[in-house]
Amino acid sequence: MIRAAKQGEGHILMQIHEKSIRGLCTKEYSPAQLDIWSSGSVEGYEKLIANCPLCLVDEDDGQLTGFVALRRNRSIWQLYVLPEHARKGVGKALLGKAEQYLSSQGDTRAVAEASLTAIGFYKRCGYTVVSQSKVVFGSVELDVVLVEKPLGKV
Ligand SMILES: CC(C)(COP(=O)(O)OP(=O)(O)OC[C@H]1O[C@@H](n2cnc3c(N)ncnc32)[C@H](O)[C@@H]1OP(=O)(O)O)[C@@H](O)C(=O)NCCC(=O)NCCS
Repeated sequence: MIRAAKQGEGHILMQIHEKSIRGLCTKEYSPAQLDIWSSGSVEGYEKLIANCPLCLVDEDDGQLTGFVALRRNRSIWQLYVLPEHARKGVGKALLGKAEQYLSSQGDTRAVAEASLTAIGFYKRCGYTVVSQSKVVFGSVELDVVLVEKPLGKV
């Protein structure tokens, strides 16, 4: 079941974020990159739940298995699935709900910052690569890719 994240679930989102990166992104990123990317705080995630335009979770039998969050400009920012729940359609379902929300707001395209790990997933979901980019965490840089997809009207 996909639903809005609730205040008080920040610690669970933080755990999903860390486990997803450490479990799924080791081929594309170095240990130093994984360390800095996977770090986060409960407070930071509580703020994200309170302030971002949309933060959805997938709940399966009482357990949160993944989440998606949009930036203030409504680009798709964080999309993470627990390794043991990967490749079962959770990411696609979360992304689909985020796209529905964007369409409902009148957006004609969805834009996402994709990790190198997630490029194949985004392509499979109808996105095309627009440009290469970097995310900078202090002295550590991570290569990412900007992807986009036209959205139909709702
Ligand atoms: C990227 C991610 C969100 C995908 O979630 P998921 O639940 O595993 O993906 P799904 O099962 O919904 O896959 C949807 C489709 O994409 C395909 N797919 C998923 N991961 C893929 C990959 N790495 N390469 C190619 N195709 C992929 C699936 O086979 C599926 O195809 P189908 O519709 O033909 O069956 C997940 O792997 C993840 O959390 N990765 C680590 C964190 C990350 O990089 N997040 C994204 C950027 S911040």
